Amino acid sequence: MVLINNYAKKISSFIKYKDNEITFPWGAITDLRQIGQGGSGLVYSGKYNDNDVILKFFYKNSSSNDFERFKNEYFNIQLLENAEKTHLASYINFDSIEIEDDLFFLYIMKRYKSTLKDYVLVYTGDKSELCEKVLYFLLKSLKQIHSKDIIHRDLKPENILVDCNDKFYLSDFGIAKYCDNSMTKVGDRLANYKFSAPEQSEKGTPITKSADIFALGQLIFWLLEGHTYAGTLDIDEYENNLIKPLLIKCLKYNVEERFQSIEEIEEFIEAEKRRLARIESMHQSELIYEKRLEANRLFTDLIRHSYPNSHSHISVIESEAYFNRVLTDLNAFINKYIGRIDIWYSTGWSNQILKNINYDVESNIVQLMLKDLNLVLEFSLEQIWLYADVSDYTSLYILKIKNLEPYEINDKKTYYKSIVNGEIEVDTNDIRSGYLELGETNGVIRVDTHIDFERYNGEDQYIAIGPLFLGAVYHRNEDFLHDLQDVDLTEEVVKGFIKNIRSHKLEIV
Ligand SMILES: Nc1ncnc2c1ncn2[C@@H]1O[C@H](COP(=O)(O)OP(=O)(O)O)[C@@H](O)[C@H]1O
Ligand SMILES: [Mg+2]
Repeated sequence: MVLINNYAKKISSFIKYKDNEITFPWGAITDLRQIGQGGSGLVYSGKYNDNDVILKFFYKNSSSNDFERFKNEYFNIQLLENAEKTHLASYINFDSIEIEDDLFFLYIMKRYKSTLKDYVLVYTGDKSELCEKVLYFLLKSLKQIHSKDIIHRDLKPENILVDCNDKFYLSDFGIAKYCDNSMTKVGDRLANYKFSAPEQSEKGTPITKSADIFALGQLIFWLLEGHTYAGTLDIDEYENNLIKPLLIKCLKYNVEERFQSIEEIEEFIEAEKRRLARIESMHQSELIYEKRLEANRLFTDLIRHSYPNSHSHISVIESEAYFNRVLTDLNAFINKYIGRIDIWYSTGWSNQILKNINYDVESNIVQLMLKDLNLVLEFSLEQIWLYADVSDYTSLYILKIKNLEPYEINDKKTYYKSIVNGEIEVDTNDIRSGYLELGETNGVIRVDTHIDFERYNGEDQYIAIGPLFLGAVYHRNEDFLHDLQDVDLTEEVVKGFIKNIRSHKLEIV
């Protein structure tokens, strides 16, 4: 201690005597002010021309091995290409001055805005975002020094410098051991000890890169918890659920159990990210599956509600009054779940989403309005087959349809009719040009809007209705449905159909 104080006194009296200015052969540093007394020596801020710089003095004479090592590491860092030291603090010069027969070494570096220690005190942003930023900074910066076989040995918030763009830089690598313990102030040593690896305080234990990895763990722990790790890691789950398993392996007291290199941590993070993404996508597909089951469940409930007798019982209805009730119910269902559950019709080989359904009891005409097509499909009804199964998936809603006579427009028969501009009824074929011919003397009008009607005149007689993943509508079963078109439905046939569609279970996507 005496020695330290003597050295410190010598340097500070000298600077005072020189009017806060030191003149080197290459120029003068002015406005010198002491800003700290770190583990390794005195720290001054000053100015070189108009630039803010920092001067760090070492108390040691040049015979020490540690000092040799520091010098080597300092030069090794200078030898890195610029791109290889983007996360390391910028050192400007290495020099020495003689004060009353004592030679003091010093280096000059850029003065940064702050250190991580002060930065967290004024930081108001998101904590886990900062954690992630510091973690990636430490990985990158340690990789840069470890690539030159330099072990930092003294990672702590004070040695992470912050510039005015909130970018971090690592400083003071390789100097921790430079000041031997007998010369460290008691308070400092205790303070440093909190971040450094346990093996660093055991005499004679070789220090590996893994010591820096312990300190990395401590820094992240400290950011999250406000204090360093002392043996209990009952941290809560953080937003970033990668952090906890990472910390567990960084903070092992036993060196062998710890990550051995930054590359190992990076591989761990990648693997963990992949694992979490897998869990997430499994979760997503389960959610989708749940949604499909839910749609089938609600639709089965609609069948039951429309015709309770259909519960677990293949039923067929054949009267207009029942048609009306059941289809009105279906229309209400479509409108209630619009945007959430699409209801499809399928004949096996063709299908569409329904927008609306209309039934006219008097004429026994069904109008299906198809989504996106602006088309109304018309037919008449013979039967509705209903079955509400306990499994939901095999519930049935099948219309047996009968083709209507074609429209008669201007004494011509057609299956395609359009209402043009809200008033004129025409054959759809007559407006395909976008214009409507009204006759020699009446001229031509432009078709601004039209609603199209089609009297169904296909071969199919059965239309299954339901959500897209209901067994009867599900695309994997379309051949089974298509095969029904040529037979007359009976309970036996329907049973066979149900058995077939059951063979294609709805799977988790
Ligand atoms: N380049 C720099 N720019 C700004 N402040 C610095 C710089 N280097 C050191 N400091 C400040 O000086 C203090 C003492 O530095 P140092 O001798 O490295 O001891 P320690 O890192 O143990 O605090 C640091 O805590 C920091 O606040
Ligand atoms: Mg420092």
